[in-house]
Amino acid sequence: MTSDLLKKIDDAINFIKTKTSIVPEVGIILGTGLGSLANEITSNVVLNYKDIPHFPLSTVESHQGKLHFGKLSEKNVIVMQGRFHFYEGYSMQQITFPVRVMKKMGVKTLIISNAAGGVNPSYKKGDIMIIKDHINLLGDNPLIGQNEDELGPRFPDMSEPYSQNLIKLSEEIASQKKIKTQTGVFTAMSGPTLETRAEYKFLQKIGTDAVGMSTIPEVIVAVHMSLQVLGFSIITDECDPEKLQVLNLEDVINVATKTEPSLREIIKGVISQL
Ligand code: HPA
Repeated sequence: MTSDLLKKIDDAINFIKTKTSIVPEVGIILGTGLGSLANEITSNVVLNYKDIPHFPLSTVESHQGKLHFGKLSEKNVIVMQGRFHFYEGYSMQQITFPVRVMKKMGVKTLIISNAAGGVNPSYKKGDIMIIKDHINLLGDNPLIGQNEDELGPRFPDMSEPYSQNLIKLSEEIASQKKIKTQTGVFTAMSGPTLETRAEYKFLQKIGTDAVGMSTIPEVIVAVHMSLQVLGFSIITDECDPEKLQVLNLEDVINVATKTEPSLREIIKGVISQL
C-alpha cells in the first residue's frame, strides 16, 4: 500500500516532470540573504513553490519561494531559493518535504546554507562556518511518527551527519581561493525569538559555535535517506552575552548578501569535484 507521504512525493514529482526532464544530482537549499547563487544556474527552469503539489508556501519576505532546475559547475542541480522554518508554523514533515522530493528525483548530495549567530567568541561577522556537527534544540524531529521503511531506517545513525570528505574538500577549496572559513557545531533553536543572554551562555557551554533557526530538520531527513550532506552557516552577528547588541534583520541580510559571493565560490568548487 502506498502511504500518504509516498503519494505526495509522487504527486510533486509528476507535476515537476511536466515542466522539466532534468535528473538532478545535487540539491541545494539557500538560506536568508543567500539566494543569488540561483542566478548562476544555466538552462534554468524555475517553478514557484505555490504551483507544486504539497509544497508549503514561504511566509518570510526575505525568502523567495522558487525551485530552480539547471546546471551549476557542469552538474545537474535542484535549488531551493527560500526555505520553510518551524517558527512559521509548518510541521517538521512540511519543512522537509522538498528534501524527500529531491532524493526521489535522483539527488545524492545535499548542500545547505543558513544565516546564523556566532556563539564562538572567536567568530566574526561575515565568517563562513562549515558545519561539522549539530545540536537539535528545536524541540521536535521530522522523523517522529510512523517510519516509512521505503525511505530510510527507524533509527538513523548520526555519527557523521555532515560528510567528512565534503568538509575536507570545502576547506581545501576555500584555502585555494584564499577564503577564510571556520569549521564548527551548529545548534538550531525554534525561534522566532532571538536568544537571551542566558541562552547564549548555555549555548557556549554545550559546545555551540553558531546558532540559527533552520537547517537541522532538512539534514535529519537527508541523513534518513542516506544523502551525503554539506552545510554552511554565514555568521551574520556576534552573540557575545556580555556585549549583546539588538539584532537588526536588515543587518543580518546585508552581511549574508555581502558574504554570499565567497560562499558561492566554495559551493561551485565543491560541486565541480563531486
Ligand atoms: N540567533 C542569533 N543570531 C542569529 C540567528 C539566530 O537564530 N540567525 C541569524 N543570526
